[in-house]
Amino acid sequence: MKHIINVILLIIVGTVVMLVAVNAIEWLPIAAAEEAGPIDRLFGLEMNIIAFLYVFVMGFILYSVFAFRRKPGDESDGEHVEGNATLEIIWTVIPLITVLLLALLGGFALKETMAKEPNELEVNVQSRQWSWTFEYPELGITSDELYLPAGFQAHLTMTSEDVIHSFWVPEFRVKQDTVPGITTELRIKPTVVGQYKVRCAELCGTSHYSMLANVNVLEPADFDQWMLKKQGAAAAALEDPVVFGEMVAQNTGCLGCHSIDGSAMAGPTWQGLSAKDDAYLVDSIVNPGSAIAEGFADIMPKNYGDLLSEDEINAIVAYIKSLE
Ligand code: CUA
Repeated sequence: MKHIINVILLIIVGTVVMLVAVNAIEWLPIAAAEEAGPIDRLFGLEMNIIAFLYVFVMGFILYSVFAFRRKPGDESDGEHVEGNATLEIIWTVIPLITVLLLALLGGFALKETMAKEPNELEVNVQSRQWSWTFEYPELGITSDELYLPAGFQAHLTMTSEDVIHSFWVPEFRVKQDTVPGITTELRIKPTVVGQYKVRCAELCGTSHYSMLANVNVLEPADFDQWMLKKQGAAAAALEDPVVFGEMVAQNTGCLGCHSIDGSAMAGPTWQGLSAKDDAYLVDSIVNPGSAIAEGFADIMPKNYGDLLSEDEINAIVAYIKSLE
């Protein structure tokens, strides 16, 4: 009995210390969306339960190591233990109930993050090795950065052109896979103006680590400004093949792997190709395995000939040749 009381006291003191420590640490980046609320609540609850469990297990182990250590000269065997049905029932039933309760709370939190508000901003998210594109069907614009107005819910409908990727902005907390052949969805109501990043959270190939895109949360008035500018640029692009080519390159994700300033990314830079003839550049887009630039691997997807129209390919070539 004396030992049990000692262990309980040790666990109580240890739990208090551990709870103070665990709650003093900022585990997560700032919460910049309403959906972060239920997730952070759940995360906090689970961290506290884990802190207690850790102390509970370690308390018994450490106490036993000291209290029941072998005394000098004691050569006798330990007591033979057959098992303890009561104890086994307790340590099966209590964790079972705890885990089921957490699953239930997780279900409630998931429902809360998917709650739909009346006026959603529709965004179609395209993903591919290794870039993101964001299309705003109601606004008639497409962008390689995600822009969202603060205080408005966005409804993201997502898919993938090749393998499974995962849309994750840590500051928004919510995460969703993008899967070829089906659409998945996510709702985000950003609350804090600022710049964040989408990180692909599914191992998807050579440049998985660099599959990033900027996320800009703007004041609604600034968002409207951006929208108008973008719509103007889309109109101008119809006039000028170079501008059109730049837009296609951004929207198709080319710039996820090719720089325009000479720096090396997953693929060779587009800078300094103005002397190349058009046929070579077209061939490098539709048949990228035919001539691999030195120092690079044959990793460019082979389906751009199907994804892009002839006009779009010619516009990209015009854009590449315009780069100084
Ligand atoms: Cu896409 Cu990792």
